[in-house]
This record gives sequence, structure tokens and C-alpha cells, in this order.
Amino acid sequence: MQYTLQSSSLPEVAQESVDILLILLSSKFLPESSTPGVVSQIEQSILDTVIAQDFNPQKTGQFYSTWYLPSTKAKRTVLLACETLSNQHIANALKELSGKFSFHEAKTVCIYLPESGAGNVESALTTFAQLNYVYRATKPSAIKSQLSKVILATPQADSLQTEFSYALARIKGEQLAKDLANQPANLMTPSNLAQTALSLTEYANLSCTIRSQEEIEKLQMGAFLAVAKGSREPTKFIELQYKAPESSSPPIILVGKGITFDSGGLSLKPAQGMEEMKSDMSGAACVLGVFRALGLLQPRVHVIGLIPACENMPDGNAVKPGDVVTSMSGKTIEILNTDAEGRLILCDALTYAKKFSPKLVIDIATLTGACVVALGYLHTGMYANDDDLSQKMQAAGKAAQDTCWPLPLDDEYAQGLKSDFADLSNIATGRYRGAAGSITAAKFLHEFVDYPWIHLDIAGSARTAKGSSGRPVGMLLHFILAQTLDN
Ligand code: BES
Ligand code: MN
Ligand code: ZN
Repeated sequence: MQYTLQSSSLPEVAQESVDILLILLSSKFLPESSTPGVVSQIEQSILDTVIAQDFNPQKTGQFYSTWYLPSTKAKRTVLLACETLSNQHIANALKELSGKFSFHEAKTVCIYLPESGAGNVESALTTFAQLNYVYRATKPSAIKSQLSKVILATPQADSLQTEFSYALARIKGEQLAKDLANQPANLMTPSNLAQTALSLTEYANLSCTIRSQEEIEKLQMGAFLAVAKGSREPTKFIELQYKAPESSSPPIILVGKGITFDSGGLSLKPAQGMEEMKSDMSGAACVLGVFRALGLLQPRVHVIGLIPACENMPDGNAVKPGDVVTSMSGKTIEILNTDAEGRLILCDALTYAKKFSPKLVIDIATLTGACVVALGYLHTGMYANDDDLSQKMQAAGKAAQDTCWPLPLDDEYAQGLKSDFADLSNIATGRYRGAAGSITAAKFLHEFVDYPWIHLDIAGSARTAKGSSGRPVGMLLHFILAQTLDN
């Protein structure tokens, strides 16, 4: 797919010989609010259509598609109501087209933005890309989109080049995250995740190390290894580094949960919906997506990615409820429920992260069903041990339209993690059994960090009704790129 950003007025855009011209309209195109005086031919055509078709630019998502709009050269013109040209309205309007209008048969599409405030280009392009995403990896019969060229036209494009290139990198990152998380567990194994990570080294300044079982044993990641014991797929620990040559700052570390299938282990999950646990590596997929975007953008940052990758399976050799294991930190853990495996693989990665003296560690994990109960599919659950970081992450989420919501880390919530047989238990017991599950999981991780830290529970936000959402690649990119300005 080739994307171009172009400075054009509406009359200029009307001269584009494209298959589809998609014009985003705000309420400025209400007949009563249009400025009297000289109106271009195309503006007149639009105003005529608005009246003739009883089309209301204020009704976000309403659209009118015609094979011929007078004074345009496009084969088809689509008017799309956006009410205002806010990022939210643009995204909502485009999402409304989903299932109602398809761009797959067009080869060339021109999207016209009458104005472009901060984030408009990114909002339009990323939402448009989401709309056209088709999963093909295991479905060769899926619709093959003909689309090869997308022009984003707006009157003043000159100052938007950075935002544009950034949107394209984000799209590529999100697409990778989706493709990985949507693939079935028989294909998207820890080895396959590792291969994908290695393939990213084609980008400049990006390096990757894969550690196998024996090396993970040498590192004494006892909690991670306990989860992996029940699986016959080789376990991997993936380490990625993106370091701009000019960057000498301590790294930001992204830790992604890479459970390629979560059966629950011996604490087996119910059959109903178990297939969804193929995407329990969405945190890992997000980390890989962010690295792809960094590779494309080459910003002045230093980022390390850590992915513990394995399956959680029941087996004669699997870890058993009541087993006590020693984590890399030296803390012992009583595994009361083998289905609370994410925190076990993450705690060792969080301990490993210390060796880099990180500026900040962010972990990303489909950690708890309780987070879906709390926040549904809208916001990522966000925990931070520093208020300033919390605010920065929330701001990044808003700017990216990939939002998070802060949840608390009070020590009270760690009460239930006490164990009679180990330093910690992996699920809350007593009064906190089954209560505040996303928070008690966060508190478990909190026990392993002694640096600035953010935990993102993406159990809800990582998916849509149709599969992976590619989130929170957008939020993390915004967050990381904001750091280039800080240091
Ligand atoms: N991967 C699941 C969490 C999950 C649930 C993600 C639904 C996406 C959708 C995690 O490993 C898990 O099983 N968590 C348990 C924890 C419990 C045993 C304390 C859960 O949420 O039920
Ligand atoms: Mn689980
Ligand atoms: Zn899991």
C-alpha cells in the first residue's frame, strides 16, 4: 500500500482521477452555515447534494455514495458526515462505514480533510487502515483488497509530514500486532514469535537475542519455567533493542506477556471460549508492533523489549496447584492456581529488566478477566508507581485515541497475596479471593519492581468483536515519542 500526503484545496481534489473520493464534511457544509459569495463548483455540488439527499453533515457517520458528483473526476464520490473535524468525530464517522461500505474493490482512494488540526491526519489514516484490515494468514479465501494507493489530501499539508510518517509507522505496527494475535496457537508458537522478532532486525539500529530453555534455566527464571513445564513447544525469551546512535539515555523497557496459548494448565479453563486464549500473547504482539514502528521511524530513543514466551498447558510434567517455585528475584511463590500464569512469567522478566538500570519499565499483558469486568473493551487498565508517569500515559492514550484508565495500587490490595508456604502466593486468598482481580494481579507484579513502572492490563482492550485490536501500539508510540522531546 502506498500512502501519500498532499496539499490540495477542494477544487483541486475534485480533479483527482481516483476510484473513490472520500470527502469528510463538518457542519460547515450545512446549507445555512455556508458562507455566501463565491462558491467553487465542487462546493456547490456538495451543497446541492446535501439538500437533495437530505444529508446531514452533523450526523456523524451518515454517508452518501454516488457514482457521479458533478465537477469531480473520481469514479465514485462518498460524502461522510463528521459533525466537527475533531479526531473523535473523524474516527467515529469512519468506523460507521464498517460493514456498510467497502473500499476493497477500489485501487485508488483519496481522502479529503477540509481542515487539519492536530491529530486529524493520524486519526483519519489509522481508522481508515483499521477499516480495511483483512486477516489472511490462515484464510487464503479472504477478500483480497485491490487498494494500492491512498492519498490524504488537505489544504495545508506542509506542516503535517511528521504526523503523517508517524501514522504510517503506527499502521504498520498495529497490523503486525493484529496479524500475530489473530493467528492460531498451532502456528503462532513461542518459536514463531521469536522468528518474527528476529525478522525485525532488518531495520537499522534494531537488534535481537533469543534465549532458549537452557539459557533461561541459567538465568534462574524459576517462575517463568514453572509455567512452561506443561508444554511441549520450545520456550523462548526474546530480547529486542532499538537504540538510536545519538541516544545515550537509560532505556525504556517494554515487557510483553507472550503466552501463545493459555489453557489454564492443570487449573483448566472451561471449554467455552478457550479458543480466545490463542491471543494471550497480545502483549508480546504489541511490543513487536511498537518495535516495527520504531524501526520505520528511527526516533532518538532507546527502547528494550522483553518477551517471555511459552504455552500454559496441562501435562504429566505440568506445574501443580500448591507447588512452590523460586523466581529469579529469589522470592518463592506458591502457585495456588496455574491459570494465574501471566504474572509468573512477567515477574521474572521484570526482575531481569533491572540489569539495564531502566528509566522506566512498562509491561503489557492480557492479565486478568477481572479487568474486562471492570473496564470492558474500551480502556486499557493502567497502573503506575509514579503519578507523573500515570498522567503522561493517560495523555498519550488520549492523543492516540487508544485510551487507558488509572487503577489503584494501595498496599491494602496485597493483603491476600500472603502465603503460609512461600513468600507470596500467585492469587489472592482470604477476603481478596475473587475480589479486585486486576488490582491484586498488579500488586503481585508490584512486589518485583524497584524502578519507575507502568503495568497495562489489556485483557479487554486488545480485542474487538472480530479479533485483535492491535492496541495499545498507538498509545505506547505516542508515549515513547513524547520522550524524545523530554530528554
Ligand atoms: N489470560 C488470562 C486472562 C484473560 C481472561 C485474558 C480473559 C483475556 C480474556 C489469565 O492468564 C488468567 O487466566 N487469569 C485468571 C486469573 C485468576 C486465576 C486469578 C482470570 O482472570 O480468571
Ligand atoms: Mn491464565
Ligand atoms: Zn493468561
